[in-house]
Amino acid sequence: MTTPASLFDLTGRTALITGAAGGLGSVFAHALAGAGADVALVGRRAEPLEQLAAEVAAASGRRAVALAADVTDEAAVRALVGAAAAALGPIDILVNSAGINIRRPSIAYDLADWQRVLQVNLTGPFLCAQAFAPAMLARGWGRVINVSSMLGQVGLAERSAYTATKGGLLNLGRTLALEWAGRGVTVNTLAPGPFMTELNRPLLDNPAAFQAFVDRIPLGRWGEPHELAGPILFLASAASSFMTGAVLTVDGGWTAQ
Ligand SMILES: NC(=O)c1ccc[n+]([C@@H]2O[C@H](COP(=O)([O-])OP(=O)(O)OC[C@H]3O[C@@H](n4cnc5c(N)ncnc54)[C@H](OP(=O)(O)O)[C@@H]3O)[C@@H](O)[C@H]2O)c1
Repeated sequence: MTTPASLFDLTGRTALITGAAGGLGSVFAHALAGAGADVALVGRRAEPLEQLAAEVAAASGRRAVALAADVTDEAAVRALVGAAAAALGPIDILVNSAGINIRRPSIAYDLADWQRVLQVNLTGPFLCAQAFAPAMLARGWGRVINVSSMLGQVGLAERSAYTATKGGLLNLGRTLALEWAGRGVTVNTLAPGPFMTELNRPLLDNPAAFQAFVDRIPLGRWGEPHELAGPILFLASAASSFMTGAVLTVDGGWTAQ
């Protein structure tokens, strides 16, 4: 029988989270493992991943493994599929959370910086989805969750590459959702607003910029990373079974204006 709790139960599932040691990625890792999934944690630096893996395993009692890889490196992403399967079994839930932001007026934007943001924020999720989906399709169950942003839906000055990639992720998700619809694999997008993580260090360290954001957020404050635990569980679990190609916006009301 389906109960409210069983809707969100991930016992027996495996999840791989890119950008896992980040401010949001670590919340995703704890939430998915806390709901019963074994988790693979991906990022470029091994040390913070290993520390997080120990914390997640201790808190959840689930298996948590650190797999260092750069999501922009196609060969490394392909190798991740085998490494994750060897450690945990085939991956059921892919969370593409690795992302960067380089803030600069568009006229002064270097091509190398533009390309780097596109590589990490857009090409990385595509490579990971392309690599992990075949085993999900073969087993007839899977969840791909791309972490976009409210800035995929609205613009903001000095974020040309970031907003372009986050908007691109919305439509990438819709197209992958259509390609895999009816085969047990859903693809949805999480679109957070401003959360207090290292990604936003330049804003957190600048009281005027910090307050300017508060003034634009209808709920009157920045988001706290733990407030994304519920949304990620919803998208990763049976609770979202009739949802694909959709966007879940969690932004304190920014895009409602
Ligand atoms: N924080 C917010 O307010 C906010 C709002 C909307 C959307 N988002 C999105 O949410 C996602 C997570 O953000 P966050 O706040 O958790 O950022 P964060 O704290 O800066 O963490 C980002 C993580 O991504 C990893 N990463 C960066 N480049 C990578 C690459 N090439 N390959 C693999 N891993 C890479 C980093 O680890 P390494 O450096 O070790 O690789 C880091 O752990 C991002 O996509 C971001 O755009 C965040």
